[in-house]
Amino acid sequence: MQLTINTAGTLKSKPDETNLGFGTVFTDHMFNMDYSVEKGWHNPRIDPYAAIPMDPSTMMLHYGQGVFEGLKAYRTEASGVQLFRPLDNFNRLNRSSRLLCIPEHDAAFALDALKQLLTLEKDWVPSQPGTSLYIRPTIVAMDAFLGVRASFTYRFFIILSPVGAYYPEGFNPVKIMVSEDHVRAVRGGVGEAKTPGNYAASLLAGDKAHEEGYTQVLWLDGVEQKYIEEVGSMNIFFVIDGEIVTPMLSGSILPGITRNSVIQLARSWGLNVSERKISIDEVLETQASGKLSEIFGSGTAAVVSPVGELKYGDRIVTIGDGNVGPVAQRLFDAIQDIQYGRVEDPLGWVETVC
Ligand SMILES: Cc1ncc(COP(=O)(O)O)c(C=O)c1O
Repeated sequence: MQLTINTAGTLKSKPDETNLGFGTVFTDHMFNMDYSVEKGWHNPRIDPYAAIPMDPSTMMLHYGQGVFEGLKAYRTEASGVQLFRPLDNFNRLNRSSRLLCIPEHDAAFALDALKQLLTLEKDWVPSQPGTSLYIRPTIVAMDAFLGVRASFTYRFFIILSPVGAYYPEGFNPVKIMVSEDHVRAVRGGVGEAKTPGNYAASLLAGDKAHEEGYTQVLWLDGVEQKYIEEVGSMNIFFVIDGEIVTPMLSGSILPGITRNSVIQLARSWGLNVSERKISIDEVLETQASGKLSEIFGSGTAAVVSPVGELKYGDRIVTIGDGNVGPVAQRLFDAIQDIQYGRVEDPLGWVETVC
């Protein structure tokens, strides 16, 4: 397949890099590719950023048959642009697609197209500390049809958005609240896919947590509501007696690329990491006995997000001394240093774009 490039006639003015938010500003161009049963994935192209016309009956709008990804491009000190484990994102997009009955794409081709798009848009990659260019690959069902079945046509697109630092006021712990009324996902469902319905299903619990002054929801498993799964839209880690513990991938947990990076990096430092079931009772018991020193989330947006306080029913507990713990801090620094090219890339995770 040959990528066609259609450049925009006029370019937008770039936003103020010192005042970037998240997900509000988009670059001049986007990647598009279509799928039909007869042609498979075809017509890959870079187009000017534009709306996608949709019939009101478009299946994505009614049945949520769609998948997406989230990764970032980073500006290095030498003014290059680089990606962090990008093929893992396109491979995960294919795994999500399989669960949603969406035809798989050629991940290596999609990554190459992304690199060409980034090369065209390189001036949009911000250089202020902590900023990056957020990348959102998405596939949506395009048949104009009402009725529950898999669509016969799809649109794959990639859009880019310059984003500010996740911690503009410094790397501070958040407060999290266990959701007892709602679950995010169940085993056998689509929790391990990055699909819009999972995020829609998380909104009500998120609103309830915010009303009580908590930043993120701590999700328990959907069957027994006993075992910990994720925190907000992040994977979760505990430091218990010096060992790093994270819930094993059960089918209802998104297999985070940052999660995997945390595990590999910590093991490379000689730390013990265990992927196993961990119950909310164990967390509270180890907190009470002084063995639980840290909790932190992991994800592309925040890299690492330390937890200072946890609420479960009537119990409110402080984690460690309520401040950022040493394991969270070391992982945050090490992963960011790799992403921004400030250190050697010890595990071969970085791909240079331009
Ligand atoms: C539900 C959920 N869990 C975990 C993650 C973390 O995944 P990653 O580290 O690949 O960003 C994300 C973000 O993509 C997510 O949406």
